[in-house]
Amino acid sequence: MLSHLLHLEGVESVVLEARSREYVEERVRAGVLEQGTVDLMIETGVGDRLKREGLIHRGIELSFLGRRHRIDLAGLTGGKCITVYAQHEVIKDLIRARLAAGGQICFDVEDVSLHEIGSSAPRIRFRGSDGADQKLDCDFIAGCDGFHGIARPSIPGEVLTCYDRSYPFAWLGILAEAAPASQELIYTYHERGFALFSMRSPSVTRLYLQCTPDEDLANWPDERIWEELMTRFRTRDGWTPAQGPILQKGVAEMRGFVVEPMQHGRLFLAGDAAHIVPPTGAKGLNLAVADVRILARALADFLRKGRREPLDRYSETCLRRVWKVQRFSWWMTSMLHRFPGDTGFDQRRQLAELDYLTASRAAMTSLAENYVGLPLD
Ligand code: PHB
Repeated sequence: MLSHLLHLEGVESVVLEARSREYVEERVRAGVLEQGTVDLMIETGVGDRLKREGLIHRGIELSFLGRRHRIDLAGLTGGKCITVYAQHEVIKDLIRARLAAGGQICFDVEDVSLHEIGSSAPRIRFRGSDGADQKLDCDFIAGCDGFHGIARPSIPGEVLTCYDRSYPFAWLGILAEAAPASQELIYTYHERGFALFSMRSPSVTRLYLQCTPDEDLANWPDERIWEELMTRFRTRDGWTPAQGPILQKGVAEMRGFVVEPMQHGRLFLAGDAAHIVPPTGAKGLNLAVADVRILARALADFLRKGRREPLDRYSETCLRRVWKVQRFSWWMTSMLHRFPGDTGFDQRRQLAELDYLTASRAAMTSLAENYVGLPLD
């Protein structure tokens, strides 16, 4: 997305990708796009398929004590919605657009290292897919290489402060070949733990169960997964998700992490390289898109108009929003999960919060405006 936005600003870039094109185009990851992410894709000419295939959701549901309660996202935010469209579909659309515009994407690169990031002429060394060592002279480097990437560790440790929170549970996620039994996402609070009903398409359901952080998938045969899902989702009127063959299973860790600052010299971090959020608010991808919008604008201001200030303030601008999103993700997570050691007091407090939230227009508005996406800055 950054490369695409820079191209539209007349700024050339080269994308280095450690994986193959097939891998990044098929790997199932996030799936909920905020209104701002959708608008950006449409406005910048990569939203045609999204408009055709994306599923627009005007609300979400919260379920507890066997009852479902709808939050009218659109009604509470002046018409803003979320769109369910898989991250790997976004990636396909962006790769196609970059290549069609003559953009350079090097897939399957290895041994990437960053050099002279404190100077005005930083360099990247890497081995290309043909096995040849390469050197790239840059004006700027954007580290968009994820939480486990090499960009963040390339910044001297003493420059960075890391803020980290691990959560004492994980999500067991499955993808099932089954038509979604509800049109909207359902976040469920249950005494046995959190569960989430989501979808990827009119024929594929995505479901998650709160589990222990070290959960062994071998202990979760398909029958046990369905049994647990049915128990947590079943409402008093008998609603449960539709079942079908399980296409994929995995365990996702829950963690909040932010590094400050998000820039050093000519290296700018964006997305998971700088911060990760627990998935409860569906914010990871959207936060990364917000970062690169700010970065693309700041780089264009500097390179085209000689304005340094937006670039100097990149980290500060992003972090204000990052922390608000971190707070929202923490709040959704804390309200909906069972924590080890929780007492009856804690459970009743959580239920009271859900009861208050689903009956107060003010509280629902607060959830809705965060869920559809806060303004950029
Ligand atoms: C998903 O569909 O993968 C999904 C939806 C909502 C979330 C997290 C994940 O909060």
